[in-house]
Amino acid sequence: MNAERVPFLDLNSQHREMEQKFISAFRDILRSGKFISGPSVEEFEKAFASFCGTRFAIGVGSGTDALRFALIAAGVKNGDLVITVPNTFIATSEAISQAGASPIFVDVDLKTSNMSPELLEDYLRKNCFKDDLTGETIHTGTGKALRAIVPVHLYGQTADMDPINQIAREFGLTVIEDACQAHGARYFSKDKGRWISAGALAKAGAFSFYPGKNLGAFGEAGAVTTDDPEMAATIRMIRDHGQMKKYFHDMEGYNGRLDSIQASVLNLKLKRLREWNGMRQSLASRYNQMLSGVSSVITPAVPSWSRPVYHLYVIRVPQRDMLQGFLSGGGIDTGLHYPVPLHQQKAYRNLGYRSGSFPASEQLSKEILSLPMFPSLSSQQQERVVDRIRLFCERYLP
Ligand SMILES: Cc1ncc(COP(=O)(O)O)c(C=O)c1O
Repeated sequence: MNAERVPFLDLNSQHREMEQKFISAFRDILRSGKFISGPSVEEFEKAFASFCGTRFAIGVGSGTDALRFALIAAGVKNGDLVITVPNTFIATSEAISQAGASPIFVDVDLKTSNMSPELLEDYLRKNCFKDDLTGETIHTGTGKALRAIVPVHLYGQTADMDPINQIAREFGLTVIEDACQAHGARYFSKDKGRWISAGALAKAGAFSFYPGKNLGAFGEAGAVTTDDPEMAATIRMIRDHGQMKKYFHDMEGYNGRLDSIQASVLNLKLKRLREWNGMRQSLASRYNQMLSGVSSVITPAVPSWSRPVYHLYVIRVPQRDMLQGFLSGGGIDTGLHYPVPLHQQKAYRNLGYRSGSFPASEQLSKEILSLPMFPSLSSQQQERVVDRIRLFCERYLP
């Protein structure tokens, strides 16, 4: 067997290919002395807004900042409630808590791993009512105001946004997309009659440019996208200590700006993003095709309204832990996204959820396995992954 491991993620080849461009951009910034904000940030904000099809993009310090600032700008405050899913990275719910609210979870759809619009609607109808006097949506159990919904476009596939937006409108709730894994993912909105990109599907979209993302910086970075000028202006203030003009503070904000070096990396990489997403899509089709004969493996479900960008390629299998060990033994690295749903995390014991509360998220956490996925994954590497999975299934899951 080939001794070299198949890595879970390898960005070296794309970085080596572009190395001279990065170095020349760093030199420009070094000589300009503009390390925070500056022209590369403005250029990136314009280009990323255009990529997503929104009027504005506001560069911030991370995806978590993007979510937190979007929630605060949407009016989420101390004591409010915000709905999201338990099957996500903890940053989604951290941002809710850091905006002063408490997260409420609704389960995901077992097939897509994303927020179930049916369960969302069911939850709202059974547990909330719209107060006619204030226009607020009140959670019956606690008397608290429910302010927003955060669907997560997990693995690079959007949630089913039309029904989520419809029920949100009925209840007067703001929808903020967690698009941290979905740069360039598309959704066919029947309501609007066209394909729309992640980040342009609700009031605002939050993106992470953590290095391993489809569009990754060389450190921490993020952005919020929106069509709403007021929201864009508020987020610009929040990210910069609540000031529009230096030392004139309309509010308390945060130190959450995008720096020039990260923006220059993102500017260069954004030009290649469609091509890289296309490569991920081809790799996913190839995985689908090669795994179609392996009966114990469930490949990712893609509804007709979805064009995912495969930040992750996630299969479901029985005996997942055993398979992961077997692949590792054969020199293949994999990941788990995520092994413990949020309601079962120690950090959220205070929320009072029990095991069994969210059966789809709990089942997924035991069955999912993220296979190697990055644009330069070679066909030989892919074949090694699939051959090893096939061997495991023949041996242990006949
Ligand atoms: C679904 C999701 N939400 C939020 C985040 C937070 O982004 P960041 O790490 O840039 O703060 C991430 C990134 O890991 C994520 O995958």
